[in-house]
Amino acid sequence: MRLDDLDALGRIDRHDTRRVLAEFALQCRRALQLRASPPIAVNRPRLVVMAGMGGSAAGADVLAACAAEALDVPLLVHRGYGLPAAAGRGALVIASSYSGDTVEVLSAVEAALARGVPVVAITSGGALGALAASHDLSRVTLPDGLMPRMALGYLVFPALGALAACGTPVASSDDVEEALQVITTAVTDLRPEVVTDRNEAKRVALAIDGRLPVIYGGPVTGAVAYRWKTDLEENAKRLATAGVLPEMNHNEIEVWRGEEARGLHAVLLREGDEPAEIADRFTLVRELIDPAAGGITEVWARGRGRLARLLSLVSLGQWVSYYAAILRETDPWPVPMLTEFKRRLGAPAGERSLP
Ligand code: PA5
Repeated sequence: MRLDDLDALGRIDRHDTRRVLAEFALQCRRALQLRASPPIAVNRPRLVVMAGMGGSAAGADVLAACAAEALDVPLLVHRGYGLPAAAGRGALVIASSYSGDTVEVLSAVEAALARGVPVVAITSGGALGALAASHDLSRVTLPDGLMPRMALGYLVFPALGALAACGTPVASSDDVEEALQVITTAVTDLRPEVVTDRNEAKRVALAIDGRLPVIYGGPVTGAVAYRWKTDLEENAKRLATAGVLPEMNHNEIEVWRGEEARGLHAVLLREGDEPAEIADRFTLVRELIDPAAGGITEVWARGRGRLARLLSLVSLGQWVSYYAAILRETDPWPVPMLTEFKRRLGAPAGERSLP
């Protein structure tokens, strides 16, 4: 399969995922215009909990990575049922579920309602939209029709606006404008019409083909490493793993020896001005794993601001997973196992095995 064969690509990508990915910058600009209604009436919460799962938690991960160096209020990403005990008086819950039907997120909202914690809901509708409407919660209503993982712009920018409205901004307007410009350029460079020699995403997809991709980020880009893993799993239906420096230096580095390492391909997510101690660790990791590794690829974030860098790496990962799917002749859009799991989970126990 040649990634520059646009006819073949069109036959495999039956749901036109490439168009959705190519419109990522446009999606982000549209998302930036969306506002919560009724307006958010919270000022300076002492804790922000962002509840979401899968693709709807990925936006929260990006914001948490921005918040780590910009915000003096703790911001937790909560993946699971209920809420952590710390989410009580003075906290704010931002509940993200693209479909609005994710039971873990619904349970987080129920817990917030029971504790009297204010909630902002970000959703295209579903049960979360209905629950938010029935309690008159602040909510941002997203356009529907996308796969949640491909709605990342809609899951990042309204939450960014909600945080700013509460007096807990994690990015400035300059950061946002820079991010939009960087994403626009990144997408232009990575779309299918750009041939492999000049297309970084196609080259990375070819490099990792046939080996287990192991994605490593630094302390900030680690959240994006996880997103690369999940995009490869959902879009290409390929197992991938993700890790973070410096933690992997204390455990996972041991795997990179002998025959086993021949089947692994490390992808290192780098930033131009990483702290010297992190850059040093990436250099050492490369040196040590190189003799045994099946392959190593380094990719670099674009832009200056945190948001631009994270989203540029996310966008590259989306396209890498897209081309990895095409190499396997797999339609990146549908997720039949995930869909069937949710169907069975929602069905009465006696009907769970029916098709
Ligand atoms: O990408 C996907 O489809 C999944 O990871 C979903 O995001 C996840 O199952 C949660 O669903 P939702 O995003 O609709 O809350």
